Amino acid sequence: MKIHIRGLPMMWASLLILSMIVLNTVPMTCGDEHNELKWSRAAAEEAEAVASIKCSGHGRASLDGLPIEGKPACQCNSCYSGDDCSVLLPNCAVDSGSAMVVSGWHRMGYSYEDGSYISRELEKVIRRLHEVVGNANTKGKYILFGAGSTQLLNAAIVGLSLKPPQNYTGNHSFSPANVVASIPFYQVYKQQTDIYNSLSFKWKGDASLWKNNSDSTENFIEFVTSPNNPDGRIMEPVLKGSSVKTIYDYAYYWPHYTGISTPVDTELMIFTISKLTGHAGSRFGWAFVKDRALYERMENYLDVNSIGSSHDTQLRALVLLKSVLKDKARGLFEFGHAYGWLKCERKEDGDCPAVLRAAGVMGRNGSVFHASNKYVRLSLIRSQDDFDLLLRKIDALVSQE
Ligand SMILES: Cc1ncc(COP(=O)(O)O)c(C=O)c1O
Repeated sequence: MKIHIRGLPMMWASLLILSMIVLNTVPMTCGDEHNELKWSRAAAEEAEAVASIKCSGHGRASLDGLPIEGKPACQCNSCYSGDDCSVLLPNCAVDSGSAMVVSGWHRMGYSYEDGSYISRELEKVIRRLHEVVGNANTKGKYILFGAGSTQLLNAAIVGLSLKPPQNYTGNHSFSPANVVASIPFYQVYKQQTDIYNSLSFKWKGDASLWKNNSDSTENFIEFVTSPNNPDGRIMEPVLKGSSVKTIYDYAYYWPHYTGISTPVDTELMIFTISKLTGHAGSRFGWAFVKDRALYERMENYLDVNSIGSSHDTQLRALVLLKSVLKDKARGLFEFGHAYGWLKCERKEDGDCPAVLRAAGVMGRNGSVFHASNKYVRLSLIRSQDDFDLLLRKIDALVSQE
């Protein structure tokens, strides 16, 4: 078995951002200090009790996990079992899919004091973080929040494409924007574009197929993911010109995934906490937009689609990002790679996912990214246990040669 992994197969720096968000489910009267201390103390005690449950370093207990006999129980990492996660399961396949984390809770109304759906404190912290890290120039740009960057990706397509004329029946001169990306690409771009089945935009596949397109009456929207998922390459747009709009997905443009040589400064830049701190389950992303009109179209989409971004999540993001700012020097940005883009190079290993599955390793098939199944994407940003097991299984596979 001959394999090649693009990028360093390194575990994501173990992220120890412990953010405690206290849940207050009862609206309080201002100044009711006695009451306030009661609920916050009780909530803190409950959280401390859960945090003190020992899971042998191979799992964690959480308040909202499935209880056993009425008590919070350990949720073990892959391949570990037992009440305290101390039992390593023999012959267990390592799932190298993506990570999920839990979210918290906060305000009850729809909007903030200024009538917007955006916490201005969080906006400040995000801008500051980009400045400190030096990965993006946010000056003079509008900010939007979304339910993960996923929601913003679609807001961007909607914002960048034109509405068909009223009573459009398909026989006018209007044509939908062509949405494209370079292979291999993150499959959600296509899935999202297809699912809307919109008159305003259509999925048109590989960007390079349209490189020499001279028809300037056609509009293009190109997704540029840099560093790229799945192969980690730094990407530039393939298409250029006045009829082309570019959505820059910078989910991985952080120092733990790539060298940051210069702050990006593009028209439409999308980021996500999912890849910055690993809190994918919190569903929080943000976009910087230069053009006012585009910003307003995207904002309108987000308002109509979900009436803004969850306040619970914004609070959690604020706590997390503040601690990232504080802890910047403490290992979070230690360099590694999010994914291994692995190729089976032997002729007889045409079905690389099957070769790996037989060795007890599960990854994403190359075809998911519109590449061939000679490739598999391995996720390297799960727990240390997952990463250690992955190395063990790959070692065993290679030594079978
Ligand atoms: C390139 C890229 N963009 C966006 C996303 C989605 O991120 P979010 O969790 O913020 O919706 C992912 C998730 O894997 C991704 O790889």
